[in-house]
Amino acid sequence: MNLESQAKGPEPLYERGVYISTYGCQMNVNDTERMYSLLEMAHFTPVDKPEKAELIIINSCSIREKPVHKVYSEVGRYQKLKNKNPHLRIGVGGCVGQQEKDKLIKNQPLIDFVFGTDTIDHLPSIVTSAFESLKPKIVNTQFAHRAPYHVETLVRNPGVATFVNITKGCDNFCTFCVVPYTRGREKSRPLKHILTDIEQLIQRGVKEVTLLGQNVNSYTGDEGSDFAELLHKVATETSIERIRFTTSHPKDFNQNLVEVMYAHQPKVCEYIHLPFQSGNSRILNLMNRGYTREEYLEKILMIKKAIPNVVLSTDIIVGFPGETEEEFQDTMSLVQEVGFETIFAFMYSPRPFTKAAKMDHQVPEEIKNERLNRLFEMHDLMAFDLVKKYEGQILDVLIERIDETGKATGRTTHNKLVHFLGAGEKTVGQTVPVRITRATPAVFRGEFESAN
Ligand code: 5AD
Ligand code: SF4
Repeated sequence: MNLESQAKGPEPLYERGVYISTYGCQMNVNDTERMYSLLEMAHFTPVDKPEKAELIIINSCSIREKPVHKVYSEVGRYQKLKNKNPHLRIGVGGCVGQQEKDKLIKNQPLIDFVFGTDTIDHLPSIVTSAFESLKPKIVNTQFAHRAPYHVETLVRNPGVATFVNITKGCDNFCTFCVVPYTRGREKSRPLKHILTDIEQLIQRGVKEVTLLGQNVNSYTGDEGSDFAELLHKVATETSIERIRFTTSHPKDFNQNLVEVMYAHQPKVCEYIHLPFQSGNSRILNLMNRGYTREEYLEKILMIKKAIPNVVLSTDIIVGFPGETEEEFQDTMSLVQEVGFETIFAFMYSPRPFTKAAKMDHQVPEEIKNERLNRLFEMHDLMAFDLVKKYEGQILDVLIERIDETGKATGRTTHNKLVHFLGAGEKTVGQTVPVRITRATPAVFRGEFESAN
């Protein structure tokens, strides 16, 4: 008998495949990156199909439309895989995990563990316990009291443009929104940590960062620094080429911030995503948004005065409880008055725990649907006209991809996606002048504008 094989050593380490399916917002996409990195450290290998995995995680989203149902139906599809491989472990994280907790396991026994939006750092130990099959199933959805520290270093492939968390959670309690319940109280990351993370990302080839939070304008760093100060420091103390941020809240968007934006153009991009949700002041009040239609328009005026070439986008909800046809018309007219080049519009959808879900006069689905269609139809026509002005202009494009045929893709400072030809010797990560030959609301086409 081979003596070596009898010798007792540490447990052999072998790599197991992990597959994470991700729903929802940029916050979740970033969280998935962190999960993969932490699990790689725990000897899991990311795989591109659930069939190849021994660990499947659903990083769920509950902001709109049937989120719990989506989780159950995805888990149900894994029954066959579990039959084939009883060692397969299935976990649910993200906002539905946070919201539903042990209910998920009670209703769907295929689920082995549930974790929340704030327990990602514990994932390696949660997963290890899940593989010790004698233990009871695990539910870990506590909220931590601190903001996460160097999180961006956990992004696996940041590319040339990536996101950097600056806050987590939200304290605004808009009456339609589940985020304060699924992501907890707002916490800001220390300013120094954000700057260090950005420096490290630059070393890895990143040229553009988007500072990310549910409400970036209420950022409060150590020593009381605010968002305008953070933006100024990122612009002056790091060598990043481009800075964006999202999401802004109209009630906290101030003169100081637009001045900092203007002072650091074009490094700070002239693009602002400023959700207004409804164009009617009564509905805004019911939504607990903290501003009226007139106050929102005043903020827009302030922004346009300070940054004349600013490009604006927004989020809108149609069919909030009690919204009348006239009130919906106020939303339509606000879109036109501001001239948003891009809108993200949604039918109101009742969320657990939220005040609006219990309000009287819920609007029937057919009416919500019909209003949403009218809004998109009106905006489509308007947006085609608005973007025509870019045709013939020469814009700086940061190259994010070049395919085998030589077609390059990148973004302008206004966040417009551009496909262009003639990049020649240019490479991913370079910013080049591109003459726009065709502009549509979704995508621009152009040609590299050489110096001669
Ligand atoms: N119903 C519909 N849309 C919603 N949003 C947030 N909660 C809801 C809801 N309950 C939209 C808002 C927000 C965006 C991220 O999602 O417009 O800005
Ligand atoms: Fe939700 Fe309002 Fe917070 Fe945005 S600001 S995350 S809509 S509660």
